Amino acid sequence: MARQRVGVLISGRGSNLRALIDACADPAYPAEIVSVVSDRAEAPGLALAAAAGIFGVVIPHRTRPAFAAEAEALLRRQRVDLVCLAGFMRVLDATFVEGWRDRMDNIHPSLLPAFPGLHPQRQALAAGVRFSGCTVHFVRPEVDAGPIIAQAVVPTRPGDDEASLSARILGVEHRLYPLAVRLIAEGRVRVVGSKVEIDGWQAPTMALLNPDEAPGEPLAANRG
Ligand code: GRF
Repeated sequence: MARQRVGVLISGRGSNLRALIDACADPAYPAEIVSVVSDRAEAPGLALAAAAGIFGVVIPHRTRPAFAAEAEALLRRQRVDLVCLAGFMRVLDATFVEGWRDRMDNIHPSLLPAFPGLHPQRQALAAGVRFSGCTVHFVRPEVDAGPIIAQAVVPTRPGDDEASLSARILGVEHRLYPLAVRLIAEGRVRVVGSKVEIDGWQAPTMALLNPDEAPGEPLAANRG
């Protein structure tokens, strides 16, 4: 099967982009990144794309519809199958989002639907939860909403601050996002109503991960 063509939207650091680039470097991985779009010219993630030989483009965010029109044209030109939001910090135009329904996903550093929006790690610590984590979901026009594809649990620890919890979750994000994109690219992810079903997975993509494991450690999920 041809590899799925992925477009990644970023605004900043790009560490999840890097995790996807690394996953795509394996010829057996069912997806390839064909373009990276940033709304900020100074996003460090653009250099990661360039270093990997991936087409990168800056589309400054003037208005929501204008950004959407330019992004849409680019993604079509690049024959993108799947759009991945990876630290893209803007709310997208609702028509654009609907046009990519179930073909656009996002990673968020909490166990949604808990703690959507900004500073989810700070929200988690303020709520005193013992576990937080990260979620990959299909995108809907509402912020951080949409059918959940994959989640991973990360413990909070006594003495955590926003930075320490964010770092612990981020290490797990880098393993979860490539897994979720792989499942989508393999054609195994179906949206049924407001939920996702994954062919061939019994206890799908909800993994209790050891955050102390080496980054890049493959995710063990129960395969049926
Ligand atoms: C990640 O925590 C991601 O979950 C959130 O924004 C952050 C982006 O980090 N949506 P990076 O740019 O991928 O390093």
